[in-house]
Formats: sequence, structure tokens, C-alpha cells
Amino acid sequence: MRKINIGLSDEQRAGVCELLNRDLADAYLVLIKTKKFHWDVVGPQFRSLHQLWEEQYQALTTNIDALAERVRTLGNYPVGTASDFIKYGSIKEQSDNIPLATEMVSQLVDDHEQIIRNLRDHVDQCSEEFSDQGTADFLTGLMEQHEEMAWMLRSFIEGESLMSDGAKPSAEKIPVKMN
Ligand SMILES: [Fe+2]
Repeated sequence: MRKINIGLSDEQRAGVCELLNRDLADAYLVLIKTKKFHWDVVGPQFRSLHQLWEEQYQALTTNIDALAERVRTLGNYPVGTASDFIKYGSIKEQSDNIPLATEMVSQLVDDHEQIIRNLRDHVDQCSEEFSDQGTADFLTGLMEQHEEMAWMLRSFIEGESLMSDGAKPSAEKIPVKMN
């Protein structure tokens, strides 16, 4: 096989691909959970959550493909079995019961936040330990997407609006309704 000569050693590329495979496994696990909740959700917010989760699993599907193809770009092979997703991922699977809609949202916020923390750490490792700025940049983009997904989900379960300084809006600050 022709040697890959892109300024990264075999060890550097292998180290980066291990991180990418961990992120790929987690992306698949959160995809499965997002899709199941898209099917199972009931309640007054059914339509909004059903649609949001469809959008999110479509974005996750695109990202999974990009993660796997980046592993191939760096000369290694992506994980691709359910058992490997569980082995290399950090997301816990949803058990057999069907949670309430708010519990589904809460679980997914936790999962996306876990993925964001992992990605933040992997960005640092790619750039500092493996000198792979390309993958660091790629994973930064994914992290930003998960931050947005977590924000959208979090917004469903935050009951009270806050001011930009974190204070609760007082009656005087709420715009007066004009007749
Ligand atoms: Fe659907």
C-alpha cells in the first residue's frame, strides 16, 4: 500500500483516528436515541419535538459520514458495528421504558453535553498531542453543532426566561402591551 505522506506519522494518525472513532460511536448512539424519541414522543409538544428530532438526526447522519470518511482519509478504518459503538462510545443507551417528553429532552441534553466535553478534549489532543490542526478544526465544527443542538433541547425544559445578566425579568422590564 502506498505510504501516506501528509506530515503526520503513523502513530499520530492512529492516535487521531482512535479519537475520531470514539466520537463516531457516540454520534451513532445519540442518533439511535434521537430517532427512537422522534418515534415515541407524545404530549402537547409532540409536533415540535418530533420535527426537531428529525432535523437533528439528519444532521447527525451527515456528521457520522464525515467522521467515518475522515478516519479513512487518515488511512484507518471506522467502527461500524453496534457492539463497537457501545464499546467505544460514552453515551448510555435508553432502556426499554418510554420516558416522558421532558425526560427524553433532559436525557438528550445530558448526552449532547457529554459529547461536547469529549470533543473539547479531543480538539486539544489533536492539536497539542498529535499536531493535527485539520482534525482539530473539523472536531471544533462538530462541537459547535452539538452546542447548538443542546441549546435547542435545553430551551424546551427551561421554564423561566432570564435577562442577559441572568436575572429574572421584573414586571417593569416586561414591555407594556399597547392597545
Ligand atoms: Fe420520521
